[in-house]
Order: sequence, then C-alpha cells, then structure tokens
Amino acid sequence: MAQQPQAKYRKDYKAPDFTITDIDLDFDLGATKTTVIAKSKVKQLTPGSDTLTLDGEGFILRRVEIDDNAWTHYEETAEGLVLSNLPSEFTLLIETELDPAANTSLEGLYLSDGAYCTQCEAEGFRRITYYLDRPDVLAKFTTKITADKAAFPFLLSNGNKVGQGDLDAGRHWVQWEDPFAKPSYLFALVAGDFDLLQDVFTTRSGRDVALEIFVDKGNLDRATHAMTSLKNSMKWDEERFDLEYDLDIYMIVAVDFFNMGAMENKGLNVFNSKFVLANSDTATDTDYLGIEAVIGHEYFHNWTGNRVTCRDWFQLSLKEGLTVFRDQEFSSDLGSRAVNRINNVRIMRGPQFAEDCSPMAHPIRPEKVIEMNNFYTLTVYEKGSEVIRMMHTLLGETNFQKGMKLYFERHDGTAATCEDFVKAMEDASGIDLGQFRLWYSQSGTPELTVSAEYQTDAKTLTLTINQKTPPTADQKEKAPLLIPFDVELYAADGSVVELQCNNKKVSSILHVTEETQTFVFENVSEKPVISMLREFSAPVKLNFDYSDEELAFLMVHARNEFARWDAGQMLLAKHIKQNVARIQQGEAFVLPGDVVDAFRGVLLDGKLDSALIAEVLTLPSENEIGGWFDVVDVDAINTVRTAIKHRFATDLSDELSAVYHTLNQEDYSIEHDAIGKRSLRNVCLGYLAHIENGNDLVQAHFDGANNMTDTAAALGAANHAELASRESLMKAFSDKWTHDGLVMDKWFMLQGCNPATNALENVKAQMSHPAFSLKNPNRTRSLVASFCNNNPVHFHAKDGSGYAFLTEILTQLNTSNPQVASRLIDPLLKFKRFDEDRQALMRSSLERLASLDNLAKDLYEKINKALDA
Ligand code: TRP
Ligand code: ZN
Repeated sequence: MAQQPQAKYRKDYKAPDFTITDIDLDFDLGATKTTVIAKSKVKQLTPGSDTLTLDGEGFILRRVEIDDNAWTHYEETAEGLVLSNLPSEFTLLIETELDPAANTSLEGLYLSDGAYCTQCEAEGFRRITYYLDRPDVLAKFTTKITADKAAFPFLLSNGNKVGQGDLDAGRHWVQWEDPFAKPSYLFALVAGDFDLLQDVFTTRSGRDVALEIFVDKGNLDRATHAMTSLKNSMKWDEERFDLEYDLDIYMIVAVDFFNMGAMENKGLNVFNSKFVLANSDTATDTDYLGIEAVIGHEYFHNWTGNRVTCRDWFQLSLKEGLTVFRDQEFSSDLGSRAVNRINNVRIMRGPQFAEDCSPMAHPIRPEKVIEMNNFYTLTVYEKGSEVIRMMHTLLGETNFQKGMKLYFERHDGTAATCEDFVKAMEDASGIDLGQFRLWYSQSGTPELTVSAEYQTDAKTLTLTINQKTPPTADQKEKAPLLIPFDVELYAADGSVVELQCNNKKVSSILHVTEETQTFVFENVSEKPVISMLREFSAPVKLNFDYSDEELAFLMVHARNEFARWDAGQMLLAKHIKQNVARIQQGEAFVLPGDVVDAFRGVLLDGKLDSALIAEVLTLPSENEIGGWFDVVDVDAINTVRTAIKHRFATDLSDELSAVYHTLNQEDYSIEHDAIGKRSLRNVCLGYLAHIENGNDLVQAHFDGANNMTDTAAALGAANHAELASRESLMKAFSDKWTHDGLVMDKWFMLQGCNPATNALENVKAQMSHPAFSLKNPNRTRSLVASFCNNNPVHFHAKDGSGYAFLTEILTQLNTSNPQVASRLIDPLLKFKRFDEDRQALMRSSLERLASLDNLAKDLYEKINKALDA
C-alpha cells in the first residue's frame, strides 16, 4: 500500500469553510463513457478562506471553470481537487468522464443488468464529480439526463420531472428538480427500461401522491406487495407519527445488483430486488415481511434521515437507529408485536452481541472511522434502535411523540446530531437523560447479574442488581449506564403481584443506574416467580439463577408472550450450556423429561398464537450459542443442538405430528394468522424430518406445496436432516428456477449451510452453477456468506479448508467489490474466540490478506483492528 489509509475522529468535526447551495447536474450517459457536467453555486462560510478541497475519485477530470472562465488554480490529489485563489462566492463548473460499465463496486454510477443506477451513501457521490461530499452540505439539485431512448426509455432522478424532449440519433433527455435541499448522499439517478406499477396515495391533508414502482420487464405481478406495503407505510406514519409525505411523486426502482437492502434517495428509492419482488410462487412469508419492513424503513427515512439529516457520518445512528425503531414499530403495529420483538431480540443476542465482543466493537455513535461503509453495522442499526426504544420506554409514547415533534420543529431542513435528538426528547418530556447519554458513547454489552431474596416474615422481596460492561477492543474503561429493567412478579397461582414500595404501587420499569443497586418490594405475600428484563427492556445480558421449575412456570403463566418465549429460551440455554460441558468431558447428553414437557405444554396450548408456538420451538442458532462461551467449540455446540432437536422430535413425535396434520395447507394468503399457521406447521416438519418416515413426509410436503414458503421449508428440512430425498428435491428446484437468481438464493443458502461432510466441496462446485455469480452480492451472500456464517462446523473445519476458501474469495472481492468483501470477512475477525489451532489458521489468513498490494480501505481497517487487538 502506497499510503496507509487515515482514520477520521468524531472529535475533529469542523464545519466546512464553503458551502454549496445549488447544483445543476447534466449527465450524458454512455456505458463506457459518461460525461457529467456539474455547475454549483459555492459560498464562503469562513471569512478569508480562499482554498477549497473537494472530494472525488475514480473518474477523469475534463474541465474546471469558475464564473464561466477556465480555472487553472487547482491541483488533483489522490482523494480530491484542491481549488485555490477563490472569490467568496462563485459558480463552479466541473466536467468529469466516468466508466459505469467498469464499475463493479456498485458505488457511484454503475450498470446493473443493462440499467444505469447510482448509490451515493455514504461517500459514493464523489465517484461522480468533485464535490463537498459530506452530509452537512445541503444543496438544491436539478438533474438533466440524456441517453438512448430505445434502450433507456425511463430517465429518473430526485424530485419532480420539469422537462423532457427528443434529440437526434434516437436520444432523449429528461430534466428533474428536487425542491428540498439535500446532502449529496441522497442524490440518485436511474436510466433503463422497466415495467412500471402505478398507484396513488391521498395524504391525510388531501394531496395526491403518484406512486411508481419500476421493476425488470416481466415482473409486474411481483410488485404488488411492495406497493401495498408502501401505502401502508404512508398511512401508518401519518397516524402514529403525524408525518405526511412532502413531494407529489414517490418512486422505487428494483435492481438486481445492490450492495445492501435499499437506499432512501429523496423521492427515488433504489432497492435490492430482493426487497421488492414477491409472489406466492417465488417468495416466502419471511420475504413478504422483509419487503414490508424495508419499504417502510426507506419511506420513514423521508423524515428521519432526509428532512432531518446527519451532521457527519459519526451521527449515522441518528437516522438509522431511529428509522429501524420506526420500521420495527410499523411491523409490530401491522403484524404480531411478540413475533417481531422475538426476531429483533434474536438479532441482538446473536450477531449484535458478537459484534460487541469482536475487534470491530464500537459505540452506536462511533469515535473513529477509516472506511464509513464499515459502520453500517448491527450496532449502529439494531442496537441504535434499542437505544431509541429505551428512551421510548422511559418517556412513554405520549412524551416520546412530543419529543419527535420538538425534534422536527428544531431541526427540519438541517443536519443534526444524536445529541440534538436526545436534547429534544429531554426538553419535551422534562425527563433527565444525562446518564442515559452514555449509551451513545460506550460500546460493549452490559451484563446484569441479579439475585433475589424473599423475606418470609417481612413479606418483602429484595432484588440486587449488579451491572458490569466488560472491556471491549475499542474501550477499556466502562461506567454504569441507566438501564430500564422491566420486572413482573407472579404468585404460585399465576396471578400478578403488584409492585409496591412505601405502600405505594410503583412502576414495573426499574431504573438501574449504579454498579450495584438494591430494590425492595413490599407486601409480597408469598415467594414469587420473577419475570425479568421483560420485552428485552435493555440490550444487555441477564444472569439469574432460575430453576427449571421457575422457567417452566413462566412459560405457562407469564402474561406476555415475549416473556413466555424468553423463559423457554432461558431453559434451553441452561441445558445447552450444561450439555456442552458434558460433551467436552466425554460424558453423555442429558435432558430431563420436565424440560421436554415444558415445550410439550406450549405446543399443545390451544390459546397461544401459532406463530408464537413456532418461535418457542425454534432453538437458538449455533452462533447465538457460541456467544455464551469464552472459547467456542463448534463441534460440541452442534452435537448438543442436534441432540436436542432429535430428543424433541422423538419425545414429542405424536404431538408434533398431530399439530402438523391439523394445520392443513390452505389457499395462500399473507394474513398474519395464515403466516403463523404455516410457520408452526413448518417447524413441526423440521422436527418430524428427523424421525421415522421423515423422508416420506418431507417429500409429500414438497410435492403438495402450493407456495414458496412450504416448498422452501421442505427443502430446508431435507437439507438439515440429510434425508435421502435431498438430492432429488434440490435438483427439481434448481431445474425449475435456474433462470431466477432471487429464487435460487434460497437454494444457494441451503448449499451453504448443508450439514453433509462434503459441504465445502459442494459449495465450491455450486460456484459454477449457471445462476451463480460472484459479481452479484445477493448470490455471494446466499452461497458464500451462508457457508461462512451459518455452517460453523464446516467453515471452522480443523484442516483450515473453510478459512482458505474464504481467503481466496476475499482476494477476488477485494478488487471487484470491497464493500461486499468487507462484510464477508467478519467471521475471520473473531479468531480470538476459538482454540489455538484454529486461531493460528485464521490469523494467517488475515495476514495473507493484509499483504495484498491493492488492499482496499474497507478490509484494511478491519484486518488491522483484528491483528492489533
Ligand atoms: N441508508 C440505507 C438504509 O439504511 C443503507 C445504505 C447505506 C446503503 N449505505 C448503503 C444501501 C450502500 C446500499 C448501498 O436504508
Ligand atoms: Zn436506513
């Protein structure tokens, strides 16, 4: 590496010396030669400054003019353009030449299957022209696009269409104008030939908004769910957050080549087609719900992200944490709150907690960044949302909404900070969030250790809560946080015991603020069973010495569904941990019958929602289990998890079979009740696959499926139980869907997490499948990332073959698509969690990658952190 990439620090934020108030862009599109003329109005902010450094890379500079005259006072550097001798106010013209066909990074302007498209967040606009590519520079954009009319009938950009016309040689142009000033990361351009689904949404104040979804030709019937989700999002944001859409048009374009889920460009969202396209033949229930969530997420950004944006990228959680909170609430209001919460908590306890103890550990508002793309993380997004949720818990919905209102009053049309948001919440509610702010600057997962003592004579219950956040790679010292801790007490008959202090009823939300704190509850007439951290009221680990009986009791009696699920998870966790230790000592697996009976009870509980029963019967992932140990023993964990699956399957076979057969397949609908029933039926199938006649049952399920959810469930069951039918089912699926990459992703994913001993060999073979391409991030994730993340036994094979495979792929992706490479490397960074032999192998893989001569900033940052830690 010629020059080592430099880190930026949050503390070094400085407002720019100049700003840009208007920019007029003119694109002349050609696959290998696109010309961009950018005319900006630039204004000095710091009196006396006469030099300006613009960001830019990866194009050819053709022209620089100031106030319509050629300008010679400039210098091009590796990262930008330094202009000098500048007046205090001027128009700047920059002409650049781009090669979109050669752009495989999918950042900036690129071709995706014959369509031009842009991705500018976080710092992609600088690959289009020299600019002040930072979120605190807000300009009004106009965009003219010229291209061949036959190949690119649709020419799209942000805002409203204000002009169009035909040109010679079959070319045409369209002009767009966005009335809202925005940072460059929200700019978008799309040019291509699509099918268009149109609709109209009438806002609460009576304005008609044109809704347009652009999809690849032939996919119109797969866009209707996205459209329904968009209208639901618009309505929900009016009702719950009092927020109305602000332009006359809202466009969504679905593209196949996309690094992430979707992008909230003003008025012109660009989506990974995975989060738009669905019909019952091609998409699973999970896909449908994912589409609803992501459509909502991007729509909600219009206020939380676009109208109020981020001052600098360290504030990313200001828009992302808040917008994830909003999309979670949206999904919960429309569907099952309990199931949504469960799935969010699984992500926190699995991958987010793992990130917190990895070399990449960072607070939700990072302090130091080399490559911003590396900070679109579970911590910023998911933990960021948990931090917003804790404020919601502490303030209540009414005060929280007052805070939102004040936040918009103060910051609409500007670039704000996380502090601005907390201050608005504090001022609107009158609740002191002083100590709470630490959640923004402290990284790592706090651990709560709780002990409970019941005093029979005094009829009091004393809870002692100790909090401790272990040191993380980025931060050694930790201070006590304000942790909202939601508790409920139950008497033996299942009734709720009111929480009283000083003879008064008190809130169930305890404010844990000290390292060790004691709470005494009075008038507790018998020793209660305690439900703790209800609704996962804070993103922490909980240690409490529950007996099996107490957990089994909570699985039946807890008043809220989440708490019942959580009790089941704690019961499993307890026995999984004990059994891993047994297996490591060469002892046999043991699971008391009472534990199985507790799950039997839930399975047969006719009053419970099917979707919830399915969640209770779903075991924690091998990765989540790995997080419970200092040294991860992938083989022992797999052995124990498989043993539990077999034990449930055999001991509960009659009940599983009865439930399976009562939940007959019906006509497909995405009503929540129908989703819940399919989910439970398919969970039962997953267990029944492991016992006698499993193969026949799975084959019949596959043959009889009238929707993709059931087809994929049969395939998954055959794969995980290594059934005789696996090969033929996989072949039938591939024969039917080879032409459709999105559908094939489900199949590649199963190849990735194939438990068979030849899994890696098989994954390598599938890389030459006609539907596979390492250039497509979805394919790469479904095959390669699923192997590396969800097949721990084979990825961590003792001979190092899994690591060598990933290293080879990363070497290729480092040049073609560093963003995808950087996400894929994560499992290797965590080498310290494994035994010495594996550590050495993983470390040498990282060292090999570190020595690549063209190592991208993205990988450089992560590898260096891992090797330094
Ligand atoms: N802002 C986008 C979202 O949260 C995500 C995003 C950030 C993104 N960088 C990206 C999407 C790069 C695609 C490519 O919705
Ligand atoms: Zn987002």
